[in-house]
Amino acid sequence: MATLNNAPRDSFSSRIGVIAAAAGSAVGLGNIWRFPYVAGENGGGAFLLIYLGFILAIGFPVMLAELTIGRRAQLNALGSFKKLAPGKPWFLVGLMGIVAAFLILAFYSTIAGWTLEYLIQAIGNQFAGKSPNQLKESFEIFQSGTFRPLLWQMIFMFLTGYIVYSGVKNGIEKYTKILMPVLFLLILVMTVRSVTLEGASGGLNFLFKPDFSKITWPVVLDALGQAAFSLSIGMGALITYGSYIQKNNPLPNIALQVTAADTLIAILAGVMIFPAVFAFNIDPAEGFGLVFIVLPNIFEQMAGGYFFSILFFVLLAIAALTSTVSVLEVVVAYFSEELKMTRNKATIIASVAISFVGVFATLSFGPLSDDIIFGRTIFGWFDYLSANVFLPVGALAIVVFVGWFMGKRNVKNEITNEGSLKVLFFPVFIWIVRLIAPVAIAVVFLYGLGVLKL
Ligand code: TRP
Repeated sequence: MATLNNAPRDSFSSRIGVIAAAAGSAVGLGNIWRFPYVAGENGGGAFLLIYLGFILAIGFPVMLAELTIGRRAQLNALGSFKKLAPGKPWFLVGLMGIVAAFLILAFYSTIAGWTLEYLIQAIGNQFAGKSPNQLKESFEIFQSGTFRPLLWQMIFMFLTGYIVYSGVKNGIEKYTKILMPVLFLLILVMTVRSVTLEGASGGLNFLFKPDFSKITWPVVLDALGQAAFSLSIGMGALITYGSYIQKNNPLPNIALQVTAADTLIAILAGVMIFPAVFAFNIDPAEGFGLVFIVLPNIFEQMAGGYFFSILFFVLLAIAALTSTVSVLEVVVAYFSEELKMTRNKATIIASVAISFVGVFATLSFGPLSDDIIFGRTIFGWFDYLSANVFLPVGALAIVVFVGWFMGKRNVKNEITNEGSLKVLFFPVFIWIVRLIAPVAIAVVFLYGLGVLKL
């Protein structure tokens, strides 16, 4: 379908560009900020194992399912469902994705703003000579402020809007292609520094020696939510990106490579963070602030720490940016294609509206930190609801749709590029999306929330 002025829809220009953009979406604060904090709160090793199981059995198939829907329909998340299931309520799944995008971006931009603050601190050499306790204290002072965290959040939202406005090929694809590999190398360097710290082995044990006594249903749900969040699945971001993928690109390979890259970076982030956590006597269950307290300590102990800290926070901010872009793109594609706005107007309206909601997330660490609703701050709720409720429910709906309602022929044709691609695991895939993934997600979700009890 053509856009407003009948120009063809924008698309990714090459397969490598697709992978960079999709990996750019997947790899972000979810890997480097969220994975360590959630794994740390949930006891480490056993959590990691369950997380990996979900990546394989649910994450990868859902990613492929989303790309399949998007490329089949060539439309935004909501329009895709309307087109593939006309007159049916499936478009509500797309609508839920739009709501999830608001929630995710509202709190994600808070943390993304923190990365900018830390970049400036790194440039000002402000970690130098500080003890672990002092570094923790200065984090807490910054975090509980009002003006600076909000300013950074708004700057970050502006950058996101700017790239989304620039479009798919010239915005998203251009930036991610070069920067992701550099980030990867830098994490490797820091990982080496972290594991060679004195007392590092406690962290490796924490991360790799599973202690199954820590596992409860809510922990299992956290692992599922983290897997979905990290892979960017369950809300239509990959339906939207899938719609920009050209018909001759192999979807299974793309999904596999993106899943592998994302998982590798999450594990590496764990190996970068936990040895240092133990070496510096930081509580692994520290929570949202974990990596912002741990990382400066590593730089402090590193030859060239000044240089590496600047480089690291630049890259972390960019990794966050390529993720926020994919979330905002979901809303902008919907506004522009379904509500017939220009891309410009859609970007401005979406960014401003999300920034407004985001204020409440950011102030959850300062002026609103006493506003605890059922045990969580507003930020805590945005984070929990999006990862543990919206994404699992969205993922469930997506696999059921692809497994039972899209038509096996359609699915097979799209995944095999109309028969020209051999996809040996297709029969396995079909049964995962029909049965295994839906049952697994439903069970984990209902038990994890405590709706069902053993
Ligand atoms: N996966 C990204 C990260 O790990 C965050 C993200 C981008 C996301 N797009 C998404 C999460 C869509 C859920 C859905 O940082």
